[in-house]
Amino acid sequence: MPTDSFWEKLKKPLIGLAPMDGVTDGAMREITDKYGHPDVIFTEFVPVAAIKKGIVKVLYSLRHHQTKTPRVAQFFGTDPAAFYQAVFVAAELGYDGVDINMGCPDRGVTKRGGGAGLILNPAPAKQIIQSCKQAAKDWGEGKLASRVGLSESILNFIRVFKVNTQQVAVAEGFPTARTKKHWREGERLTESVVRHIIPISVKTRIGYDKPITEQWIGQLLEAGPAAITLHGRTLKQLYHGRADWNEIALAAKLCKKTRTLLIGNGDIKSVSYAKDKAKQYGVDGVLIGRAALGNPWVFAGKTPTTQERFQVMVEHCRRFLAYRPDLKIFPMRKHLTWYCKGFAGAAEMRDKLMKADSLASIKHIILQYAP
Ligand SMILES: Cc1cc2nc3c(=O)[nH]c(=O)nc-3n(C[C@H](O)[C@H](O)[C@H](O)COP(=O)(O)O)c2cc1C
Repeated sequence: MPTDSFWEKLKKPLIGLAPMDGVTDGAMREITDKYGHPDVIFTEFVPVAAIKKGIVKVLYSLRHHQTKTPRVAQFFGTDPAAFYQAVFVAAELGYDGVDINMGCPDRGVTKRGGGAGLILNPAPAKQIIQSCKQAAKDWGEGKLASRVGLSESILNFIRVFKVNTQQVAVAEGFPTARTKKHWREGERLTESVVRHIIPISVKTRIGYDKPITEQWIGQLLEAGPAAITLHGRTLKQLYHGRADWNEIALAAKLCKKTRTLLIGNGDIKSVSYAKDKAKQYGVDGVLIGRAALGNPWVFAGKTPTTQERFQVMVEHCRRFLAYRPDLKIFPMRKHLTWYCKGFAGAAEMRDKLMKADSLASIKHIILQYAP
């Protein structure tokens, strides 16, 4: 069984969309993929404990579009057995990789020992990586998702997603590189994804209250993740101060002695800046987070015209409603305000969009500012 690591195949330095909770949902990933073409895209983080409990709605943000861009599902939690199940879910949904969040500074996550809380506990952190790697291997070798204790509701979500996306793939004539031609409806779990061992990666920070980069990354490397993304801040810093790229360089040096890739992250505003940093600090790639808010073009190194900006705002709303027909348009308000920059009347338009409550009202506001 080949270890089919897309990480190794990507041209370096790779430049990807960072995971952002409440932001990098299916619609944002699809729009960023279409207008920016990043090398890899991450989901928002998903709690493995909820998957274990059978809570289906946490999987809504894992719905994704057909694309050749590698997609990584990110999970957080503390229970290696729950991570094992989550890897099966991601693999069944067709994700190209699974990432373990060891960097979230949110009190609600760290107080249970998850996210950046794992930096203080390398032993469980390594156990989680090992459990995910085992799951990826077991799934790749043919173990059925219906045999790993997932609830019927989660299995049903997977079935429905596969049936729906296969129909989309066929309707769009999408080359079924990842999907077998002999897809058969009606099997217990429709066998539509070609099995291979998906790579397991980690995203973390340089320390808890002070940088302990070499010690912490050294521990992670013992478990052999395919890649580590390192945000150059400690948990205590949250998003304050500057990301410390010298610490990231220390980690890159350690990783060079292994097969693990090191991806740097923090304060990167453009592709050219990302390439400079990669060269200067010896990393294999860079993830861009906040600079991609309302700016899918950042990955293409392009500034859109105001007309393009408006067209993509409406398209993003439409895609959001297609992914989440169960929701109203409100979660799109923040995205819309992020798009509102670089044209006359942008601040005024932002204020109006913050009150918009439907796609029709958003279109109406945008039309008032059309060039
Ligand atoms: C709104 C928001 C949500 C985030 N959610 C996640 C998350 O779910 N998982 C994660 O690993 N990092 C998360 N992050 C951290 C980013 O992935 C990234 O590490 C951080 O923003 C620094 O990169 P940047 O300077 O390019 O934004 C989040 C950041 C922001 C701003």
